[in-house]
Order: sequence, then C-alpha cells, then structure tokens
Amino acid sequence: MRFYIKSYGCQMNVYDSQRMEDILTSLGHKKEDNAENANLLIFNTCSIREKADDKLFSDLGRAKILKDKSPEDDFIIVVAGCVAQSRPQDLLARHPYIDMILGPQDIQNISDRLGDLIKNKDLDTLVLTELKASDKFERFNETDPLTERNVSEFLTIQEGCDNFCTYCVVPHTRGREFSRSVKEIVSEAKSLVSRGVKEITLLGQNVNSYNGLDDSGENCRLSRLLWELSSIDGLKRLRYTTSNPKDVDEDIAKAHRDINILMPFLHLPVQSGSDEILKKMNRKYSRERYFEVIDMLRSYRPDMAFSSDFIVGFPGETDKDFEDTLDLVKKVKFSQAYSFKYSPRPNTPAAKMKNQISEDIKTARLQRLQNLLNQQQSDFNSSFVGRQVEVLLTKEGRHSGQLVGKSEYFQAVTVNNADNLDIGDIVKVSITNAVSHSLIGETHEC
Ligand code: SAH
Ligand code: SF4
Ligand code: F3S
Repeated sequence: MRFYIKSYGCQMNVYDSQRMEDILTSLGHKKEDNAENANLLIFNTCSIREKADDKLFSDLGRAKILKDKSPEDDFIIVVAGCVAQSRPQDLLARHPYIDMILGPQDIQNISDRLGDLIKNKDLDTLVLTELKASDKFERFNETDPLTERNVSEFLTIQEGCDNFCTYCVVPHTRGREFSRSVKEIVSEAKSLVSRGVKEITLLGQNVNSYNGLDDSGENCRLSRLLWELSSIDGLKRLRYTTSNPKDVDEDIAKAHRDINILMPFLHLPVQSGSDEILKKMNRKYSRERYFEVIDMLRSYRPDMAFSSDFIVGFPGETDKDFEDTLDLVKKVKFSQAYSFKYSPRPNTPAAKMKNQISEDIKTARLQRLQNLLNQQQSDFNSSFVGRQVEVLLTKEGRHSGQLVGKSEYFQAVTVNNADNLDIGDIVKVSITNAVSHSLIGETHEC
C-alpha cells in the first residue's frame, strides 16, 4: 500500500512513527509525504492537552473526505497512539469510518492486520489496546532501521510511566514502565550510527528511572547505560529526555562531567515552583529539592544549561503559588522552556479537583511566565555573542550557503558561510549575532 503517517505530540511518538515506517517499508509498502497520494493513512496521536485532541479530529474529517473520494476499495484509516489508547470507543462513535485503532504499545501489529482488513471488508474495526511494551520492542528488534535517518535521531529506551502525576494522561495511555535491555539498545544505537547518525537522544517519559537488564542479568541504571553507549565508534553526541527531578542522582551528574559525548544540557521539567502545588500534582519533590538537583549538576558540570516545562493554572493555584513559580525561574535561570495552561484530562484526579482556575487567569499567568522565560532565553543566547560554540550541522538553512545545527547547549545555530560544509559535520562557530530563539555565526575551521 501507499502509506502516509502523521505524528502528533512528543518525541516518543516520532520514534514510534519511524519504527512503523520501518516495518511497513520492510514489507514492500511505500511511504508518501502527502496524504492525497496514499491509500493507508496513519495518525499517531497525542492526548496530553485538549488542543492535541482537537487537531486530530479536524484531520480525521479531512481523511474521511479522501476515503469517500477514493476509487480504491482498500483505503484504510488507522488511529494509533495515545488518543487511540485512552478513547477508542469515543473515536469509533464519532468516526465510524476508522478501520484500525492501535494503542502506543500495539503499533507493531499494523502490518499483520492490514491483510485481514483488505480481504474482509465487513470486518469490524480492529481495536488493539493491550499495552504490552515487551511485544512492541520484540518486533522492533527484528526490524532494522531501514528507512532514511537524520544525523540526529531518537532511541526509545523506556516506555510507560508509573508516576501518576495527577494532571497527566501518560500512565493511562502508555501503561506501566518498561525498560529495554542494554543489549538491544546498544545494538540499535550501533545500527543507527552505521547509517550516519551522529547524535542519539535516548527517550522515555521518565528516563532517569531506566532499569533495564545488562548481559549478566543485572539491572543497569541510566548512567551506566550512557557509559556503555559512549564507547560506540562514530557516535559524537548523546542526550536523554525526559528527566523527573525526583530521580536525578549523583551518578548522572558525574556522567555529565566524565562522558565527553554527553551534552551539557538537561530538560528538567519542574511544572511549578510552589510546594503546595507540587504536592497536589503528586510530583514527589519539593522546590528545595529541585534547587539541590540543579546545584548538584552545576557543581559537576558548571556550564550545564537547563530547560523545563511549566503548567500554569493548576487547580487551586493562588497568586502566591504562581509568584513562587516566577521566583524559582528567576533563581534557576533557564536557557529555554515550554509552558502550558493546565488542561483537564479525562480520568485524571486533577480534573475533578475543586477550585479550577478560570481561562482569563490562566492566560494572564502564562503571558507573564513566558515573558520572563523568553527574557532568560534571550539573555542566555546573547551571552554567546563573541564566543565560539561547537555545532552539529543537521539541515539546510533558509538561504543558500547556510546550514543550521545545534550547539552543545541545544541552541539552534545558523552558520552563514557553510558552502564547504556538510550536514553531519561538527564545527566550531564564532557567534556574531543572537536573535530571540537562535544564534547566528561563522565558521573558520572544519
Ligand atoms: N514525563 C515528562 C512530561 C511528559 S508530558 C515529565 O514528567 O516531565 C510533557 C509536558 O506536558 C509536561 O511536562 C507538562 O508540563 C505538560 N502537561 C502534561 N499534562 C498536562 C495537562 N493536563 N495540562 C497542561 N500541560 C500538561
Ligand atoms: Fe506524566 Fe508525570 Fe509520568 Fe511525566 S512523570 S509522564 S508528567 S505522569
Ligand atoms: Fe502525547 Fe502520548 Fe507523548 S499523550 S506527549 S504522545 S506520551
């Protein structure tokens, strides 16, 4: 078939979509970049906030038009991922033309069931939401990363989440925590590097609680896994995300000091700077603990840069709680950040809490927080003007002669005189200019 995949949400979905693509390609199906040319449409969905759901429903409306217009009998619409897992019945009731529903741990079944659907037109929609991550990775391990890879790629090392933050759907959509073995992660990483990948970002919703088995059957922590990966010939950079502050230990801080290819940047979502709110969120750390973790990392790696996620307008958040968040931001100084209005999600405890915050207050708080975070990002970037940074070039720039890449601190950097450079090169760049979300510079050597 000719398939088109659209990914919504986090990097874990990007990775899953890529692996679905590998499986389908290995069986002779052909990828299309445009839905209009395809007869298999796959929507790999996200449910983290209400807006993510809304986007899917409008895309499904367009998919139905394509299906109705298609002269082909075998036109198949698949909804995979987190909405598929959390609301299969709702999806079917509202969009009965969907042919297959696959939860995030069931996507490996996509190819096996296509034949059933094509042969038996009257078959009811296939709904697979079994949440067995071990089955998914067994299938992934059998399938080489066949399709094209970029110089910087993701590698999921852990699935699911056991933390049950009170606002979050992820434990309900991706199931319990499951860590892949060291052997399969190292083997997949080597395979990526042999295809020209220079930078790997290890993925998990709670990656610091990685606990996979090593070759002798012992549990291995994230820091040791990073050491194992650091010896792969040709791998130039390592990152990992997402970290929960409660699980960051001293071994990780030491790894940032001692592993050359481990980048000095960490995404460490704090969500709120108020102890009251952190407790209601069930985050299991205090504001003080967050400062300690930041200080510990900076003590081992003084140039470490931090980004974070924030939720404003969590139920019961007072002006004082919000001021505590602003105060935390001022004390830590982030190099970049994401911030969101709290969005009530079905079947999560916070959605039923009293004192939900009005939309107006959420909007005003988000604006103030984003102003402060933007200012910090801009100050951070400006401090690089006149300095040299090492940049991994990842793609073409907007103008000819330009290439764009990432600094060690995860800043976007545009290199102006890149005519003799290639994507995948790591170059020293002298920064001449800082604009709001990126740096601009020139290189003198390769
Ligand atoms: N596992 C990661 C976060 C995954 S979700 C962690 O624990 O940090 C990515 C981000 O979405 C979260 O950090 C949070 O800031 C935001 N988010 C999650 N649920 C949300 C909700 N119900 N409303 C608004 N933002 C939410
Ligand atoms: Fe969601 Fe919390 Fe798990 Fe992150 S740690 S995925 S926010 S439940
Ligand atoms: Fe969204 Fe699921 Fe990721 S809800 S953020 S796609 S884990």
